[in-house]
Amino acid sequence: MPRSAIVGTGFYVPERIVTNEELTHLMDTSDEWIVERTGIRERRWVSPGTSGAELARRASVAALDAAGLEPSEVDAIVLATLSPDHFFPGTGVFLQRELGLAGVPAIDLRAQCSGFIYGLSVSDAFIRSGQYRTVLVIGVEIHSTGLDISTRGRDLAVLFGDGAGAVVLRATEEDGRGVLSTHIHADGRHAEILWAEFSSSAHHPRISAELLAEGRHYPRMEGREVFKHAVKRMPEVVEEALAANGLTAADIDLLIPHQANRRITEMVRRRLDLPETKVVDNIDRYGNTTAATIPIALAEAVGDGRLERGDLLCMVAFGSGFTWGSALVRW
Ligand code: ACO
Repeated sequence: MPRSAIVGTGFYVPERIVTNEELTHLMDTSDEWIVERTGIRERRWVSPGTSGAELARRASVAALDAAGLEPSEVDAIVLATLSPDHFFPGTGVFLQRELGLAGVPAIDLRAQCSGFIYGLSVSDAFIRSGQYRTVLVIGVEIHSTGLDISTRGRDLAVLFGDGAGAVVLRATEEDGRGVLSTHIHADGRHAEILWAEFSSSAHHPRISAELLAEGRHYPRMEGREVFKHAVKRMPEVVEEALAANGLTAADIDLLIPHQANRRITEMVRRRLDLPETKVVDNIDRYGNTTAATIPIALAEAVGDGRLERGDLLCMVAFGSGFTWGSALVRW
């Protein structure tokens, strides 16, 4: 049975940097509050008219270049996002069109902050089953156009940023290398703890002037509940992955946790008893880009030379749904 290996990584973030200081002019908040509670100093926001498909295209081209592959060598696209460009069709087909890959399947996947791990999981299964040899896996998000950028929405508006990350996953026969296992979970009992209620196909009309005036189209979150579940589920699913492979946390060379906020990352790191040097943390520069955080952080880590052949990489996510998951990769 072939195994899948990450043979290329890439990311793209919009040029526009939005600092905490800039946000203080738009809402009642402070750099001190944001840094202390989240670790975020700045995030990227797209300029009007930029689509998620465009961010995804740039990240994908970078990943394909790094892999030394042409787009025509891609057998399938798996794109994770909670902020699709349109209700339908999915962002994946727009990306597919941009890459000139007519005929190649494009799967949009919705698992919020865990979207990339979910995407890696299904792509790994495609490759192991022999159905495809090369899959482009992308996490892309545009949050800035969907946030309540005012004091009313400050709890969420300061957290999120825009960006995209991509990997090329490819069948390998190389001994020992590749995705060892993925572990994905969900618990819909908590769906409304972090969600965007409208627009909704369960309502007619899906959105109205009244709902817009009430701000019901903006995401809402019970932050403390999310925090509580995240710091439990993330270490748990890392332990699950380690146990499945007869490994321990001490074997991990690099941990890439979903970048939700620095306090969550810090608690996960402590629970796994890992030194800071083994944990990737770039939330200060990008904020939470949900499905895109892990592939962006991975591409940066690769660029910084933080992974060497043979290293054990662990990626772990938790997010709205709730959804969570982990992946272990022998680099
Ligand atoms: N600036 C200034 N004050 C703020 C802001 C802001 N941006 N946002 C909220 N406040 C105020 C609140 O109004 C509240 O004021 P009050 O005490 O007068 O009512 C006070 O700060 C404390 O608010 P809390 O929500 O209780 O703050 P908390 O300490 O819980 O921190 C935070 C909020 C950072 C969101 C925290 O709950 C958290 O980290 N939660 C995890 C959720 C998360 O990271 N979600 C990301 C998406 S999900 C994911 O990726 C896993």
